[in-house]
Amino acid sequence: MGRLENKVVLITGIGGGMGREAARRFASEGATVVGCDINEEALAETVRLVQAEGGRISGSAPVDAGDPKAVETWIDDAAAARGGIDILYNNASIQRFGAIDEISVEDWDFAIDMELNIVFYAVRAAWKHLKARGGGVILNIGSIAGTRGVEFMPQNAHGAAKAGVINLTQQLAVEGGPHNIRAVCISPGFIQTIATTFLVEDPPPSLKAAWDRTPLRGVGQPEDIVNAAVFLASDEASWITGINLVVDGGSSTLG
Ligand SMILES: NC(=O)c1ccc[n+]([C@@H]2O[C@H](COP(=O)([O-])OP(=O)(O)OC[C@H]3O[C@@H](n4cnc5c(N)ncnc54)[C@H](O)[C@@H]3O)[C@@H](O)[C@H]2O)c1
Repeated sequence: MGRLENKVVLITGIGGGMGREAARRFASEGATVVGCDINEEALAETVRLVQAEGGRISGSAPVDAGDPKAVETWIDDAAAARGGIDILYNNASIQRFGAIDEISVEDWDFAIDMELNIVFYAVRAAWKHLKARGGGVILNIGSIAGTRGVEFMPQNAHGAAKAGVINLTQQLAVEGGPHNIRAVCISPGFIQTIATTFLVEDPPPSLKAAWDRTPLRGVGQPEDIVNAAVFLASDEASWITGINLVVDGGSSTLG
């Protein structure tokens, strides 16, 4: 018996590093996974992998989760096809970086849209289905950049958006409680994925120094995040809501 047996789980961005790992693990724990991605090929590869491992999965692409109408259609269709939903896992995001005197208004707005509004759109669409189910879980992905500044990359818009995700999670926990909807956030430290491989291969000195000072491994892997996600999404965490779980090898403890 898996830890997510018979749960219907919607995951955004299943074509990427953490999203693919989440789709694989959640399916292996007995969930029925419904994924989406803007990247058709990447999504198809994840669906193929999960099915080859014997998991239950379907996926839609291209779906831009940053488009409120598109994400609503994806969620409504999933709820209709599966008879409801239990868990919404807001994984997808696209970053835009830039120093405060260099980042354009367009890039700032894009990052807020694709890192914060993207979560709001999905939650807004899923809420009625979770209420109709008698409860469920919203699992958001924040970042340690949401609670601190970083030296190695100017993360103004990224950090501000992720701070919004962390705070939105707390408000959702308050509003969701009466409906038995839990809302939780995981804030990863530096994780090796498609998005960060260029930094792993050629890290700036300040990043390398941060890794060297990290109490555990300096660079995390997608499974480090997904292990926490499985627990928080499962009934084992039924009295946990509103939290921001930092999974970063202890790097944040260094201040
Ligand atoms: N990698 C890290 O070090 C790190 C650290 C902290 C937080 N995070 C967060 O973790 C999450 C996953 O990051 P990752 O490193 O696995 O990224 P990734 O780039 O490897 O994968 C992201 C996936 O989401 C998809 N996607 C992006 N925008 C989308 C949209 N609008 N609609 C649908 N699909 C979309 C991409 O096509 C891709 O398949 C993100 O929210 C990211 O901000 C990552």
